[in-house]
Amino acid sequence: MSAHRSKRTTRPILDMNAYDARDAKPDDPKNDLLARRQRNFGAASVLFYRDPIEMVSASGCWMTAADGTSYLDFYNNVPSVGHCHPRVVAAMTNQAKKLNINSRYLHQTTEEYLDRLKATFPDHLENIVLTCSGSEANDLALRIAQRASGARGIIVTESAYHGNTATVTEISPSAHKRGDLPDHVIAVPPPGSLAYGDDIAAGFADAVHDAARTLIDRGHGVAALIVDSIFSSDGVFSNPRGFLRLAVAVVHRAGGVFIADEVQPGFGRTADAFWGFQRHDVMPDIVSMGKPMGNGFPMAGIAVRSDMLAEFCEDVGYFNTFAASPVASATGLAVLNVIADENLQANAAVCGGYLRDGLQHLADQDGRISDIRGAGLFLGVDLSADGNPENPSGQLVADVINAMRRHRVLIGAAGKYGQTLKIRPPLCLSHNEVDFFIDALGKSLRACG
Ligand SMILES: Cc1ncc(COP(=O)(O)O)c(C=O)c1O
Repeated sequence: MSAHRSKRTTRPILDMNAYDARDAKPDDPKNDLLARRQRNFGAASVLFYRDPIEMVSASGCWMTAADGTSYLDFYNNVPSVGHCHPRVVAAMTNQAKKLNINSRYLHQTTEEYLDRLKATFPDHLENIVLTCSGSEANDLALRIAQRASGARGIIVTESAYHGNTATVTEISPSAHKRGDLPDHVIAVPPPGSLAYGDDIAAGFADAVHDAARTLIDRGHGVAALIVDSIFSSDGVFSNPRGFLRLAVAVVHRAGGVFIADEVQPGFGRTADAFWGFQRHDVMPDIVSMGKPMGNGFPMAGIAVRSDMLAEFCEDVGYFNTFAASPVASATGLAVLNVIADENLQANAAVCGGYLRDGLQHLADQDGRISDIRGAGLFLGVDLSADGNPENPSGQLVADVINAMRRHRVLIGAAGKYGQTLKIRPPLCLSHNEVDFFIDALGKSLRACG
């Protein structure tokens, strides 16, 4: 690592593009709402942008603010089939008018949904457990992995984020503002060429191997390797396809479980496959999913080998009051139907390709775009003030994100230093919207010259 790199400030995930109250303007009409927000949320308040936005409505890929400005949403992969999609909203509200109960009663729609969802997974993942958040899903996945392996050690990537429960925060380096990871958690650099050179698969597998040895030496053993299969908070690492295979084999040999966290790449976003792990031709023992699953309705869950779930349930079992309700099931089913009927995975390929071409065109004119990575409609773009790909700049990314907001495009940051523009629009994106985005990015880069 160069001296310059080591001097850079790492950015925890919640500090990316975050509002700082010290930037408040005295005559801002939003000040009353900001003050109430601060009083209610206290220190846990996290808002986007140096100048936060009050939102009032949304449709398709667009969100509308209280002052009437409409913004193109290139950040949010929760409303993945489009904000307030009429078919999803209708399924949700029609079921809410009829019946909404916990899952300890039989219900046709729930089994229809789970059959449909299961059909998207390899056959060996025979059971689905629904939860209300990706954090709960990963928490459960880790507990099952620890029971199945009889070990405690977990291997993650350096800037991973897997959620907010106590257990999951421990394995989310990107959530930590200070302090070290616990003894049973080891973080390895994400699978990119900056860390591993030309042979990413072998380099990443070696790092996982070393981490496994350390966990064994420390007496924890290896319970699991868990990765977000598009490595979104690490900065989006997608290629070459298949690079996960060797690392997964290493973990299995060490007696551990492979957990694919599909909360970000799942439900067709990477275009090549419905699930991100399928791009790497690996067989996870557990898959966790969430965010786009209910298009905004809080739904998440795991797909898991039935033998592992059975072992776990011998000890404690699992019940979740709000998960797998008829409303959740009807909503999730509508999301699957919309993805299929509107060919959204294919659209992610077509619009993702068009978007990539537009980004490459900008990169040809502006050397500060130092790398473009990703798959389908999940892209990461590194910016570097001096054009050196080994020296990407979190400050430039933050400036560009705020300039993009002035050009009515919402976008996020990722990576250890916040050095990557994270591009993740709804899957119903159109070519015109890609043009709007590329135009705004070109203007924003010029404004940040
Ligand atoms: C990869 C990944 N896993 C898990 C989670 C946690 O999901 P939730 O916020 O629904 O608890 C997140 C949230 O950002 C995530 O990005």
